[in-house]
Amino acid sequence: MDRDRLLGELNEFLRIPSVSTLPAHNTDCRRAADWVGAELQRLGCSDVQYLGSETHPVVWGKGPAVPDAPTLLIYGHYDVQPPDPLAEWVTPPFEPAVRDGKLFARGAADDKGQVFCLLKAIAALPKPPVNFRFLIEGEEEYGSKVLFDLLKREPQRVRADAILVADMSYVAPGWPAVYTTLRGLAYAEITVRTSKTDLHSGEYGGAAPNAHEELSRLLSRLKGADGKINIPGFYGPVQRPSKTELAAWKKLPFKEKDFLIKRVQGKGLVGLKQYSVLERLWALPTFEIHGITGGFTGEGAKTVIPAEATAKVSMRLVPKQKLAPVERQLAAAVKRLAPKHVTATVRFLHGADPAQIKVNSPAFQLLAQAFKEVTGRGSVPARAGGSIPVVPALAWGGAPVILTGIGLPDDRLHAPNEKLDLKQLWDGIEVFRRFYELLGSLDSEVRSRG
Ligand code: BES
Ligand code: MN
Ligand code: MN
Repeated sequence: MDRDRLLGELNEFLRIPSVSTLPAHNTDCRRAADWVGAELQRLGCSDVQYLGSETHPVVWGKGPAVPDAPTLLIYGHYDVQPPDPLAEWVTPPFEPAVRDGKLFARGAADDKGQVFCLLKAIAALPKPPVNFRFLIEGEEEYGSKVLFDLLKREPQRVRADAILVADMSYVAPGWPAVYTTLRGLAYAEITVRTSKTDLHSGEYGGAAPNAHEELSRLLSRLKGADGKINIPGFYGPVQRPSKTELAAWKKLPFKEKDFLIKRVQGKGLVGLKQYSVLERLWALPTFEIHGITGGFTGEGAKTVIPAEATAKVSMRLVPKQKLAPVERQLAAAVKRLAPKHVTATVRFLHGADPAQIKVNSPAFQLLAQAFKEVTGRGSVPARAGGSIPVVPALAWGGAPVILTGIGLPDDRLHAPNEKLDLKQLWDGIEVFRRFYELLGSLDSEVRSRG
């Protein structure tokens, strides 16, 4: 492997600011799609297609035919989250830089660096050992609507013997993982209006309602200081992990104290204290406030009673919770909790059902073997707190969806100074190269039983 050349190529990909949620970056998203398309062509894909016209295209590719070999569908995303707050980046988010064996850039781990691994692992083989299919999308970070609609129209796209997703991390350095669940997500804006226009806080203060105050009260009623979410029906379908699963988590190299000190880097943890931190992160739903707008936030001081305030919020959902009922529950709770003198509205931006995956088919054992050969340890089952909206749809065709990744827990996804350790990158290419090879030699009879 010519590492300098590979790093140069990855940097090219990382330099494209393909922020899917910001319309100002639409042409950048298209450039990132083109970068992926060109790579697929170099891998010998005959018909590279750009699918879904409304927004950022899904890049589809079909590798050279390998008769009698299994078919592996590779999923990934070329879009990234907004890079703000910019001032906190040591080097600019779209100017990749290596420091101390780590590559810093927005998308280094989520997910461009990992897509890069998956593709370069193919290029590292003398010839493709399996029938490759590719679905690399450009709006994973905004709910995956284009790909979801595409799969509804054309379910044959997910026909494969296995589907490989590398968009996660090891559970700890030296501990590769495969994931059995992903949380779902419901993203919403809650808007509170209290008067026709903003009002002078001297003339009106004391008698006129204040939108920010009303919104704060509403939000604090939706989730209490004890971490409990007060949305009627919300916890109904939530199931506790089995005793066996909870016992297995105790064996993982995860210490609640280290999580606070090294990863959160705060003063204390919150949430439902009667459950372990892993259970709170992996098996319980959440309610988070992402940002609040409205009123006066500029420099200086302005005495005003804001007429309107909006909170962007999201709820993570766990297996058995469904997006549609949760959206209805939130809308009903907001309506019930808002006082009469307030107009409260809820607008849903995007969402995803949770995913649950059985990890017992032969492909999982081959991945574990590849990890073991390259890193010294096979992949262990774990759950993921994050979401990948399209995963339930990828599973529609019945193929096992392998959720894994080569990042590390401290990669700072979605945050300033996102990074990927170069060792993880080089190991990752080796792991996937070996996995493809092993899958290619999988006996067709075993495959059909999988
Ligand atoms: N790669 C992440 C998902 C992830 C992160 C899974 C960490 C497991 C552990 C993905 O790119 C992501 O961030 N998804 C969004 C989806 C959302 C915007 C619908 C998420 O989880 O916030
Ligand atoms: Mn991702
Ligand atoms: Mn992400």
